[in-house]
Amino acid sequence: MSVKKVLRMGDPRLAAVASEVRAFDTTELHQLIEDMLDTMQAENGAGLAAPQIGIDARVVVFEVAGNPRYPEAEAVPRTILINPTIEVMDDSLEAGWEGCLSVPGMRGVVSRPANIRYRGFDPYGDTISRTASGFHARVVQHEYDHLDGILYPQRIEDFSQFGFIDELVESGRLVAMPCDD
Ligand code: NI
Repeated sequence: MSVKKVLRMGDPRLAAVASEVRAFDTTELHQLIEDMLDTMQAENGAGLAAPQIGIDARVVVFEVAGNPRYPEAEAVPRTILINPTIEVMDDSLEAGWEGCLSVPGMRGVVSRPANIRYRGFDPYGDTISRTASGFHARVVQHEYDHLDGILYPQRIEDFSQFGFIDELVESGRLVAMPCDD
């Protein structure tokens, strides 16, 4: 078990565009994924991207199943997604609260495409292709953004819906525990 330190917003490594993975099923790749899963689990995150632990690689992991931070979210199977691409299926947008392990203690409302198809590879180089909507789609898009150096606050349009969790809950604006990491 190797829990890594999660970088916080302001670290330039979080703002960089990550490099594609070229070699699959390597010791290095498997070790990275193990570290990412350990870190995500230790932090109770719904997802994690490699740049968040300082690794320059287009690798994301996510899982929503019995996550105490998101008790009302639909289950998303544990997924390791490498070199992902996202295709937006239609024009519908959905606004929802997001959080990020790199922006601890805060939440903000982000509007994102509601229905997507994502593709990529598993650690062995086999293709993954899935459609996703709702929270599942949001998590994937949030994690994908990390690979392009984008953190969710950069996608907020209405900053009256951004702040510290405690204050948002106290003022009644944040009711349910929302998205992502
Ligand atoms: Ni995040």
